[in-house]
Amino acid sequence: MFIHKNKRVLVGVTGGIAAYKSPELVRRLKDRGCDVRVVMSEGAKAFITPLTLQAVSGNKVHEELLDEEAELGMGHIELARWAEQIVIAPATANFIAKLAAGRADDLLSTLVLATSAEIAVAPAMNQQMWQHPSTAENLSLLQDRGVRVIGPGSGDQACGEVGPGRMTDPTEIATLLAGEALARPLVGKRVLITAGPTWEAMDPVRGITNHSSGKMGFALAEAALDCGAEVTLVSGPVHLETPAGATRIDVRSAQNMLEAVLENVNSADYFVAVAAVADYRPINVAEQKIKKTDESDEMTIRLVKNPDILATVGAMPNRPYCIGFAAETENQIAHARAKLTRKNVDIIAANNVAGDEGAFGSDQNAVTLIHHNGEIEIPTNDKYAVAISMWRHILKLANSA
Ligand code: C5P
Repeated sequence: MFIHKNKRVLVGVTGGIAAYKSPELVRRLKDRGCDVRVVMSEGAKAFITPLTLQAVSGNKVHEELLDEEAELGMGHIELARWAEQIVIAPATANFIAKLAAGRADDLLSTLVLATSAEIAVAPAMNQQMWQHPSTAENLSLLQDRGVRVIGPGSGDQACGEVGPGRMTDPTEIATLLAGEALARPLVGKRVLITAGPTWEAMDPVRGITNHSSGKMGFALAEAALDCGAEVTLVSGPVHLETPAGATRIDVRSAQNMLEAVLENVNSADYFVAVAAVADYRPINVAEQKIKKTDESDEMTIRLVKNPDILATVGAMPNRPYCIGFAAETENQIAHARAKLTRKNVDIIAANNVAGDEGAFGSDQNAVTLIHHNGEIEIPTNDKYAVAISMWRHILKLANSA
């Protein structure tokens, strides 16, 4: 599945300014011993010359669908069969639309239709184009068909705007394709993470809980491990495998979770509270299953406030660097910023859990990191990629604090 020595990788370059980064990607793939061939779209040639890509790949660059010379050697069907991995970087909004529509009007789109290789795209475009519903729908269609979407990143754009749409750094693309840890900036650091829902019992069989799947917390644990950290994962009831190398402590209620956190927080350098902790719990927990009665159609359960685990850690002297989450259905940014101060933490990751697009249970997420000096957008991606991106920003912010 991952690229490795001798893997046959076809790099597709389409027409965006980020094409200037494609030779760097080819180099990073060659560093890993891959056999690399490059296919350029007509538009790509306005930004970079085939000669450059030929020089770095060591192979003739393929450009035309109907190329007499190529048909004798490597025409589109041969290339489609040859490739084990295709990575299109940069992938423009237009090219993504073509792939989604299944068009075959140039060499690259044709061979993508004709291949059984794994396909990845690294989108690069103006932030408005990235945020356009057409682009989002096209990408989600491609993802449903198994195409891997890498990035984009967020920040200053060549067009002078700021926002999501920058092509992911070539080293990062190659690293993700190789399934390697990005870098190991968390070596020697201890990370404590809460994840999943809590279960607040009413009686031995019933309780109050929520839809949290635990996936984001587990992804952050996995990403921290890949960055070299020692990870303790305090998890509410979830159906997820423990990331290899993590110390997992299973808990049920908010009170259990607080105890587990307090036992481990003193040695932690980073505390990430991802758990969707129940705000209230039943005051009384019946020893036996509560029976329904014929006396009344109503029943009242009295609740009491749970401890706020994140705020408790936030208030500790010598506390670790603290990151919380804000899952809101409205006014996310304003609520998240208020939480930053109220809980005395360093970062709040705001994600929207409203409607079908919500993060709960999904394999994808998009978050805005709210910190004391600004905001950082991490666009929609699979939760592991979002987690890697989060750690990169967390470390930058923590080191500049
Ligand atoms: O106050 P609210 O529940 O919206 O805050 C969410 C953040 O606080 C999350 O990071 C969550 O893990 C944490 N939290 C907590 N203990 C609670 C409630 C929330 O650690 N009792």
